[in-house]
Amino acid sequence: MSSIDDIHHFATELAEKAGDLIVELRSMQRLNVDFKAGIELVTNADIAADKLISDAIRARFPDHRILAEESAPDIAAIADTSTPLWIIDPIDGTVNYAHHHPQVAISIAYAERGKVQTGVVYNPFQAELFSAIRGQGSWLNDQPLRVSALHELNRALIATGFPYNKKPVLPLLMSRLQAVLENCADVRRLGSAALDICWVAMGRLDAYYETVSPWDCAAAVLIAREAGAKCGHFMPVPEHMPEELCGENLLISTPALYNDLQEILQAAS
Ligand code: IPD
Ligand code: CA
Ligand code: CA
Repeated sequence: MSSIDDIHHFATELAEKAGDLIVELRSMQRLNVDFKAGIELVTNADIAADKLISDAIRARFPDHRILAEESAPDIAAIADTSTPLWIIDPIDGTVNYAHHHPQVAISIAYAERGKVQTGVVYNPFQAELFSAIRGQGSWLNDQPLRVSALHELNRALIATGFPYNKKPVLPLLMSRLQAVLENCADVRRLGSAALDICWVAMGRLDAYYETVSPWDCAAAVLIAREAGAKCGHFMPVPEHMPEELCGENLLISTPALYNDLQEILQAAS
């Protein structure tokens, strides 16, 4: 039996190793870019980092299940809460990665009974390692994290993102964006959902909303919650999904702004 500290340490080491790998592949100009379903960008580094992480988990914890964006992307895995589940995004911010932008992370979460127990989000291009252990706090490198203390929505800086396949939902996305933009100071689209949420955790942003997949948000949501953020959904969570692993209609916010933002997003939906 491994303790949660051991698992946290193991996940941190894995994220750092995968980080070294993706930095090296990019610096050697050895990127092959492909498109999943014709639109969703993926590189050889996404596949290589996924393999490095998944192989290491399988070798150490053969009984655990893995949900990983590139090698095991069946989201139905989150509905089974009977055995431990690892949730992995080998590169969050692939478009940034392929365009040589620095807002890129590796995200690794470990869940038991549908709840994330420890999570790591590592940006190897900025040497920023965000992590959390349930009930013990969250950290950037070894500094404890705390959300912003902002109370005025009209001063808030809010991040969001858009799906690859945006055409069918564009009017809805624009309606929400307009409503949020009308009420806050400004909006950012930084390109990595995991880092957006970690940036709320540390106060660089005041809130974040978007619909994403479990691997984009599982680790970061624990990091934000442990830093004092209010983490939830602005629309009802589908019945079969464990709430904490559901990335649909996510709203992560400093506590004072949550209810107003939830209302604004609901009214615009
Ligand atoms: C994407 C990023 C982006 C978000 C997209 C995600 P990927 O993940 O997190 O910020 O807006 O919805 O799919 O494809 O770079 O792993
Ligand atoms: Ca992602
Ligand atoms: Ca990814």
